[in-house]
Amino acid sequence: MATSSSNGKAPSYELPWVEKYRPLKLDDVVGNAATIDRLKVIQEDGNCPHLLISGLPGIGKTTSVHCLAHALLGDAYKEGVLELNASDERGIDVVRNKIKSFAQKKVSLPPGRHKIIILDEADSMTGGAQQALRRTMEIYANTTRFCFACNQSNKIIDPIQSRCAILRYGKLSDEEVMKRLMEICDMEKVEHSKDGLAALVFTSEGDMRQAINNLQSTWTGLGFVSPDNVFKVCDQPHPVTIRAMLGACYKGDIDTAMEKLDEVWNLGYAAVDIVTTIFRVVKTMDSIPEAVKLEFIKEIGWTHMRILEGVSTVIQLGGLLSRLCKMHLSPKLFEVKT
Ligand SMILES: Nc1ncnc2c1ncn2[C@@H]1O[C@H](COP(=O)(O)OP(=O)(O)OP(=O)(O)O)[C@@H](O)[C@H]1O
Ligand SMILES: [Mg+2]
Repeated sequence: MATSSSNGKAPSYELPWVEKYRPLKLDDVVGNAATIDRLKVIQEDGNCPHLLISGLPGIGKTTSVHCLAHALLGDAYKEGVLELNASDERGIDVVRNKIKSFAQKKVSLPPGRHKIIILDEADSMTGGAQQALRRTMEIYANTTRFCFACNQSNKIIDPIQSRCAILRYGKLSDEEVMKRLMEICDMEKVEHSKDGLAALVFTSEGDMRQAINNLQSTWTGLGFVSPDNVFKVCDQPHPVTIRAMLGACYKGDIDTAMEKLDEVWNLGYAAVDIVTTIFRVVKTMDSIPEAVKLEFIKEIGWTHMRILEGVSTVIQLGGLLSRLCKMHLSPKLFEVKT
C-alpha cells in the first residue's frame, strides 16, 4: 500500500484515504457507540438477524456491515457474502434469479453462521424488487440473512422493515470527526494547524467521508491544512467573514453587514451557499445571547425557504441582514443593552 512521502507531496498512485483508512473491525468504527455495541453483540453471538441500517451519507453504514460480515464469516467471506449496491442491476429479475440462487446455494460456513446478502443503498431499489424479497427473506431465513443499508429508511417498504432489526446511525460529533482526522494526520504526517482541522470538521457537518476527502485534497493540493486552505478547497464562504457580518447585525450596524455581504457575493458564491453558511455560523456564535440567536435562526430559515423557491438574489440576502439588524430595535430581546 502506498504511503505519502514526508516531503509534503503525496505520490499520485496513492489510494484515496477514505478507502485506505476504511475500518476493518467494528472496534475501529468511530461514533454511534450504542448502535455499534448492538452490532458487536450480534458479532459475538454469531446469529445475525436481518438488519436495516439507515442514516446520513458517510457515517459508516457500509463499513459497519462489511466489518460485521468479515467478523462473522472470516475466511468464508468470499463465498458466504453476496453484495449488491446501487451500481448493480437490482430489479425484480435480479431478486428472482441472483438473490434466490445465492440463497439456495450450499456453502460451507463456520458452525452456526449464515450466508449474508448485503443490499447497500437499498433505498434505490424499486418497490417491486422489494416486494419480491419479502417471501424470499422468510423462506431462506434458516441459511441466509439480509443486511440493508440506506440513507432514507422511509423508502424501504414496511413489510421489509418489520422483518429487520432497525439500526439508525446519527451524525458523527465534531469531537469524533476531529479525533479520526488527527489519527490520519499522524499516520500520513500531514502538516496542519488545529484551526485547519476545526475548519474541516465545520465544513463536513458530521460526514466522516467528506472530512477525510477534504483533508486529503487540502494536503495534496496546497501542502498545509490551515483554515484558509480548507475553505479554498471546499469552496465555501469563509465563516470568519460571515461571523463578522452577523456580529455587525447583532450590533445593528447594517453598513458593515452589507459590506461583508458584498465581499462574499463578489467572490461568486451562490445565495444558497451563503445562507447555509450563515445558519451554521450563527449556531456557533457564543457572543449572541440565546434568545436573539433563536430569532436570527427563524429569519434565516424564512430566507432559506425563499431562496430555495427560486428568489436567490443578493437583495434577498440584504433583506435578511436588514431584518436581523432591525431586531436591535426590539427592546424585549435587547433589554440588557438598550
Ligand atoms: N464511523 C466511522 N469511523 C471511521 N471511518 C469512517 C466512519 N464513517 C465513515 N468513515 C470513513 O468514510 C468512508 C465511507 O464510509 P461508508 O462507506 O461506511 O459510508 P456510508 O455510511 O455507507 O455512506 P453512504 O450512505 O454514502 O453509502 C469510509 O471508508 C471511512 O474511511
Ligand atoms: Mg454506503
